Amino acid sequence: PRKIIIDTDPGQDDAVAILLALASPEDFEVMGVVAVAGNVGLHHNATNARKVVELAGRKDVPVYAGCARPMRRTLVTAEHVHGDTGLNGPDLPAPSFELQPEHGVDYLIETFMQADPGTITLCTLGPLTNVAMALVKEPRIAERIAEIVMMGGAYFEVGNITPAAEFNIYVDPDAADIVFRSGIKLTVLPLDVTHQMQATPERLQAFRAIGNKAGQAVYEMLSFSQGFDLAKYGWAGAPLHDPTVIAYLIDPGLFEGRLCNVTIETASELTIGMTVTDYWHVTDRPRNATYIRSGNAEGFYCLLTERIARLP
Ligand code: BDR
Ligand code: CA
Repeated sequence: PRKIIIDTDPGQDDAVAILLALASPEDFEVMGVVAVAGNVGLHHNATNARKVVELAGRKDVPVYAGCARPMRRTLVTAEHVHGDTGLNGPDLPAPSFELQPEHGVDYLIETFMQADPGTITLCTLGPLTNVAMALVKEPRIAERIAEIVMMGGAYFEVGNITPAAEFNIYVDPDAADIVFRSGIKLTVLPLDVTHQMQATPERLQAFRAIGNKAGQAVYEMLSFSQGFDLAKYGWAGAPLHDPTVIAYLIDPGLFEGRLCNVTIETASELTIGMTVTDYWHVTDRPRNATYIRSGNAEGFYCLLTERIARLP
């Protein structure tokens, strides 16, 4: 199994991604979960991360709290999508275990410095603040991270928080800029693909029909968070974002993408946080990211439902 660390701001869709990873021991050894400010404040996200790990019956996975705000800009949150706790929907018990005492950024640095280079993959499901701060504090981790697989950005489908930007990149564009310039192998799951993964009523019901606690919780989480998106897009089902990162690592054959240059806009008030993607190679800027453009929604939901069924 591949060793991964999940950096996240849970978030209903983050929660489903964490559950998918923990349900897949043949694919992953989840070394740790690090919370970051994003969908809601850090305190809630760190609590939610522990609730989700516990829902999967995996209190042994250490959970860390990282940065409470972006590097430069004021924190923008998304209670309007995720609810005031960030994980509205299911009534999950308060976590019965503590956060790790170490700061999430120091955990990332220590873990990557101690492990053999190229042996741990970083999955990012929220703003990139923790990762960028770790790169600033200890640049040598860049050559030790096997790969970063992230949910973030948008090109063809453009923005969900402003007309130009996707939420995770918009919240901390300075951090995203550091990560995209780091030279680390990057795979990006943008809105272009997550908008294809629509949680239709049938797909939501399939989680509930499993009959386990996790399936019921996934049903309740996604039923809550999709309320906002359904009204916004008018589609049969709301997009499902963060689990695509984990699904990509399990079965990359479900997705198609292309290696291109992606550069982050950090200055313009109109387009800040935009992932400017040189899809057609019209510049000679280095090809720094595999930009996933499409995915097999049926295959994705089959995988997700089958794996969630393995949980308590
Ligand atoms: C991203 O923003 C968050 O609200 C979701 O959890 C996802 O990571 C989608 O733009
Ligand atoms: Ca997220």
